[in-house]
Amino acid sequence: MEPLNQNSPITEPEETDFENRVVAPDYSPEDAEVENPLRPRRLADYIGQEKVKANLSVFIEAAKQRKESLDHVLLYGPPGLGKTTLAGIIAYELGVNFRVTSGPAVEKPGDLAAILTNLNPGDVLFIDEVHRLPRSVEEIMYPAMEDFALDIITGKGEMAASYHLPLPKFTLVGATTRAGQLSAPLRDRFGVVLRLELYSPEELARIVTRSAGILGIPIEPDGALEIASRSRGTPRIANRLLKRVRDFAQVVSNGSITREAAKIGLDKLEIDGLGLDANDRRLLTALIRFYNGGPVGLETLAAAIGEEAVTIEDVYEPYLMQIGFLSRTPRGRCATAAAYGHLGLKPPAGPDSGQQSLFR
Ligand code: ADE
Repeated sequence: MEPLNQNSPITEPEETDFENRVVAPDYSPEDAEVENPLRPRRLADYIGQEKVKANLSVFIEAAKQRKESLDHVLLYGPPGLGKTTLAGIIAYELGVNFRVTSGPAVEKPGDLAAILTNLNPGDVLFIDEVHRLPRSVEEIMYPAMEDFALDIITGKGEMAASYHLPLPKFTLVGATTRAGQLSAPLRDRFGVVLRLELYSPEELARIVTRSAGILGIPIEPDGALEIASRSRGTPRIANRLLKRVRDFAQVVSNGSITREAAKIGLDKLEIDGLGLDANDRRLLTALIRFYNGGPVGLETLAAAIGEEAVTIEDVYEPYLMQIGFLSRTPRGRCATAAAYGHLGLKPPAGPDSGQQSLFR
């Protein structure tokens, strides 16, 4: 694992691939080309997440005024919302180096020691998927975060020796899709905890328009909104769809992304008017057909569609809940009447409907 500095291209540490879905919010190598030049470097250029930005700008300004390192920051929320981008912005705005790694990449305490001892005072260390740090690494992270020191024990038995290594003051920016999976001692050591929300179609349209400008793709406001409204609240998906739709626009409308060109492209990609793809529809259909709209337990639903429960929770559910198609209840997942309507199905009347069962 090579730490990167501010001038290096940001490479995403983890590559996951959910069957190559165009609407998968997870990072795929194809995004590197389109995503990197599109990452805003300054907070002022970052669109959306207004509450997060407002708070961060105060914390950054205050740390700069006091000439101190910024408190450790935890960013959490569904994948593809710009956690890495925001971490890079924090470093840029503080005027310090940006070092990037991920939880699973830091395998041993020695790996973390190598990263931390190479930091300059004030640097930002970004750890993606921080909930996946091995336990042994997490344990030496506590004093590193709290006291800016490493306590390392080498050897065993009589050969054992312990070292106390002072570190430069640094800012850890941790990102996770699952704040709940973070151990309490680690979570408690982040002074700033910020939750990223899914973006509105209007915010995504601004991101698409900005990205199209950077990539030199002519786009009409209606075309941007069409892409935005099918991007599941996620900039990474919006930027990916922009790239795909560009090809259709070239063929059907002289290269300019009009609403019509966007519609044709997105329909061909089988992404429906709300951004659902075949997998989302499969989940909802299983919930409705096999379990009468729910409630059904997450594990049961996962087994029925052959997905991991965490994938359902992190990838499918946030958006389905945001658009009001799915609800999580203490007794399990339920499809709402809106989900039935979208799939052209009739919600069951009476006490057995998913809706009714919420109130049982
Ligand atoms: N590209 C990806 N996410 C973005 C955001 N939030 N603002 C601007 N450009 C982006």
